[in-house]
Amino acid sequence: MIALGCDHGGYDLMQEVIAYLDGKGIAYKNFGCDNSHDSVDYPDYARKVVKAILDGECEKGIVICGTGIGISITCNRYKGIRAALCSDCFSAEATRQHNDANILAMGGRVVGPGLAVKIVDTFLNTEFSGDERHKRRISKIEEC
Ligand code: RB5
Repeated sequence: MIALGCDHGGYDLMQEVIAYLDGKGIAYKNFGCDNSHDSVDYPDYARKVVKAILDGECEKGIVICGTGIGISITCNRYKGIRAALCSDCFSAEATRQHNDANILAMGGRVVGPGLAVKIVDTFLNTEFSGDERHKRRISKIEEC
């Protein structure tokens, strides 16, 4: 199960992500927001996604705000969360393999829908390498 959360700046791109997930039959829980015209606060939606992951309700999350920056900063305040802001497929692949990232963040005003869907596809279909050196580095993140 994938947890989804966005603010008004990420709403339109999130609809593209949802269409992709629906097309692939991938289960998700959408925590909003509900439209692109009412201004909302991205930390509120970041928290809902984080909570769903930390509670074990969802394995991964996708969060989108205008830049992807504010919502990823918020997610990364929580222990156990590794949110990666990606605007390219190479980073999406590498952050799964090396960082075992559990949240993908994107900027709705940064990446176009075609690229965003490829980034999502890469993120969801790439496994953590499991290499000892990467596990050691992730453990050090958790000590922060
Ligand atoms: C909202 O206008 C905007 O600040 C937000 O979507 C995001 O870009 C913040 O980092």
